[in-house]
Amino acid sequence: MDLQALRQEAEKLQDQIVKWRRDLHQIPEIGLDLPKTSAYIEQALRDMGIPVKTKVGKSGVVGLIEGGEPGPTFALRADMDALPIQEETGLPFASRHPGCMHACGHDTHMAMLLGAAKLLLAHRAELKGKVKLIFQPAEEGPGGAEPMIRDGVLADPPVEAILGLHIGSIFKEVPAGAIGVGYGSLMASLDRFYIKVIGKGGHGAMPETTVDPVVITATLIGALQQLVSREQKPTHPLVLTIGRIQGGTAYNVIPSFVELEGTVRAIREDERQNIARRMEEVVAGITQAMRGSYEFKYNFGYPPLITDEAVTRHVEQTARELLGPEAVITISEPTMGGEDMAFFLERVPGTFIFLGGANPAKGIVRTHHSPTFDVDEDVFWRGTAVLAASALTWPDRKD
Ligand code: NI
Repeated sequence: MDLQALRQEAEKLQDQIVKWRRDLHQIPEIGLDLPKTSAYIEQALRDMGIPVKTKVGKSGVVGLIEGGEPGPTFALRADMDALPIQEETGLPFASRHPGCMHACGHDTHMAMLLGAAKLLLAHRAELKGKVKLIFQPAEEGPGGAEPMIRDGVLADPPVEAILGLHIGSIFKEVPAGAIGVGYGSLMASLDRFYIKVIGKGGHGAMPETTVDPVVITATLIGALQQLVSREQKPTHPLVLTIGRIQGGTAYNVIPSFVELEGTVRAIREDERQNIARRMEEVVAGITQAMRGSYEFKYNFGYPPLITDEAVTRHVEQTARELLGPEAVITISEPTMGGEDMAFFLERVPGTFIFLGGANPAKGIVRTHHSPTFDVDEDVFWRGTAVLAASALTWPDRKD
């Protein structure tokens, strides 16, 4: 496989990828139900002559490219959903859906994967095996990977390895157009918890007749933070954030309960399970010791994202050959953000790579999930090239 020729073909697709991206950027949709986005992707794939399955995991779209020779199936995954944010970029192709914006770059992921599909089709004869193109909804929540897996996206034909890509500035060390790769745990689990501290309300001047849930909560918050500072190995990252706390209605009334909500991020599954268990023990112990009671709900969301060594090495080598060694950055420490690509990586070996999309020289610096988020469009062909080349060369590396 001549990767330099493939690189040039990818460069020639740049304008087409930009067009797809701008079209998709104007029609952002949220969650699991993405009628316009799914229809757009379906049409683009059909126009290329690729067989398509729709409504996989509600609104997921799956294309299949069959190579000229038998071999394994390699999957490429792009997420499709946007965020409930009012766009303020002022771009000519800004969102036409009020209160909705592609503020995480998933529009570019779809466009780059369509570009990869086009390259793969052109090289179908050389392709050993099949490439499954997975367009997934609801990455930003409630999660689209799991429903697609339940709907059989990894079967028939069975997926042997998978690759996903994220654009932007999630890892600051990856400059514009470079590819960041990482080994092992790269992103954290994303869990949510709810605690209700139940006391007994009453007159603010007569605390002896009440059980004050505000004071119990004050003790509880400190104790929960100590699970991280005193029970977790200091060199292992773990986050416990209480983002919402609510209780009381008047300055002189002791309320009957206080509610807390928050998130836990871990990069190791055993530590994740451990803190979930220890949190409830602490909540139970403290509320009981202080004469109150509680409700505790811990919702396990996305698991830690863990890359497979062999697939990561393959993609890293491919990107080096394709774009030059200086364009590939090895990520040294994980981010505590989460990604539901992790569900695919739990089931099949694969990896998740990062395409630098911020570009301070062009003033493109705003962070993900901000109303002025944007990316450097000039990098798109590079993402497309790495996706297509990694899929095309995968079986070769295996024998
Ligand atoms: Ni994202």
